Amino acid sequence: MIQNILATATFAPSAHNRQPWRFVVISSQSVKENLAEAMAIDFERDLTRDGLLPEKIQAQLKRSKDRITSAPVVILLCLDMSEMDSYPDENRQHAERMMAIQSVAAAGLQLLLAVHVERLGGVWACWPLFAQETIQGTLNIHESWEPQAMFFVGYSADIPEPRGRKPLEEIAVFMR
Ligand SMILES: Cc1cc2nc3c(=O)[nH]c(=O)nc-3n(C[C@H](O)[C@H](O)[C@H](O)COP(=O)(O)O)c2cc1C
Repeated sequence: MIQNILATATFAPSAHNRQPWRFVVISSQSVKENLAEAMAIDFERDLTRDGLLPEKIQAQLKRSKDRITSAPVVILLCLDMSEMDSYPDENRQHAERMMAIQSVAAAGLQLLLAVHVERLGGVWACWPLFAQETIQGTLNIHESWEPQAMFFVGYSADIPEPRGRKPLEEIAVFMR
């Protein structure tokens, strides 16, 4: 199932078809626990800086650690810029990086849709963006693999109510 999910994710469109997405699939409980502990250190530092009460910090740390360790499979989605084009000017280099990020995000959405097709549940979490180096060090992944998101995948414990969407009038302009 996971192989199917990853294969579907790789059919996302990508800028110049460079396919800058990389995946780390974690089902080992000990790896999940090491990762959760390591990420919690960064998270605790950030929450302490925010001035949150210690009890609130501990509650948030527990919640995020539990989400990682209780997911049957955690899929880390990374961005690899090494095969993208390089430009001497900042403007085009920034655009190239944005293209790569958009491509990786497209793969993330395909991944979630593929999870759904397999009748599994999946959640997109952005925390890797706040702990990129910690994750690279803990999982011993190449420094060109920049963690972007993690997906918690497994059989759904329940089916949540659909979340609302803004009406089209608010978010679209029709130029007839
Ligand atoms: C870039 C991105 C980052 C997200 N980060 C998180 C997250 O850290 N934790 C979480 O519970 N959900 C996260 N989500 C899921 C959103 O909260 C969710 O998609 C949104 O609330 C709409 O709900 P729905 O997808 O169930 O319709 C993220 C989604 C995206 C696209």
